[in-house]
Amino acid sequence: MKFNKHSKSASFSMADSKKTLHKNLGFTATEQYKLLRANLNFTIPEDVKCPIIGVTSSMRGEGKSTTAINLSYVIAESGKRVLLIDGDLRIPSIAKKMSIESSPGLTDILVGPEAGQTGVLKARVLDNWYILPSGVLPPNPSELLGSRRMASTLKVLAEKFDYIIVDLPPVNLVSDALAISPLLTGMIVVVREDYTEKKELENSLRQLQLSNVNILGCVMNESKGDKRYYGKYKKYSNYYNDQTREA
Ligand SMILES: Nc1ncnc2c1ncn2[C@@H]1O[C@H](COP(=O)(O)OP(=O)(O)OP(=O)(O)O)[C@@H](O)[C@H]1O
Ligand SMILES: [Mg+2]
Repeated sequence: MKFNKHSKSASFSMADSKKTLHKNLGFTATEQYKLLRANLNFTIPEDVKCPIIGVTSSMRGEGKSTTAINLSYVIAESGKRVLLIDGDLRIPSIAKKMSIESSPGLTDILVGPEAGQTGVLKARVLDNWYILPSGVLPPNPSELLGSRRMASTLKVLAEKFDYIIVDLPPVNLVSDALAISPLLTGMIVVVREDYTEKKELENSLRQLQLSNVNILGCVMNESKGDKRYYGKYKKYSNYYNDQTREA
């Protein structure tokens, strides 16, 4: 059962959260995120003006939000204008991790009078790195994320940014990531070493394939014992091919 596995993540505690984030990252981890940034540049079609990239995984607690924050940070560091959206409208965590208010946020834009109103965007850490927290949690996250309103909001926001990164819930638990898939340039799938079960990963990849989203690749997130070796946020790509070959 998926949630039992969460207890296995004792070495991934919330107290250590900040150490795994943006400016607190060590040299090796930062380099790995830069590698991911470079790989994305090769994978995303050149004619896409503002790539909208979803970050998901099979289960809870695999490092999606951490990856979304750090990836958006290194992209911003390279001088691009980046927007990080908390699209986990069930258990949002970006606001908490970034120590900002969770509201107003995405849901306020989605139910507000004007799609893409940027008044609720909050610049943090860098001038060109913006964060859109979840806002008040809605009763129907999946419908909101796949709505026409979401589509028009992303369209407006894509005019203002060079990159948009959307942190999402896990594929195998709720349909939210699949619902927003048609609006994305591509999806990154986070895999946590010694935690993600092969079957779960296969299942999530199959579902993503069915949704026709462009799977940009997998990010291997790992923690080596007590040392919390989060430096090895491995690059992605072959992982996906290996999994589907075996499936
Ligand atoms: N490589 C890592 N090394 C150590 N700790 C990590 C690493 N990656 C993530 N963590 C920690 O693991 C916990 C879960 O990470 P995170 O919130 O990014 O996962 P998530 O997939 O977004 O979870 P959820 O499905 O609940 O949204 C956090 O406390 C985070 O700080
Ligand atoms: Mg998360």
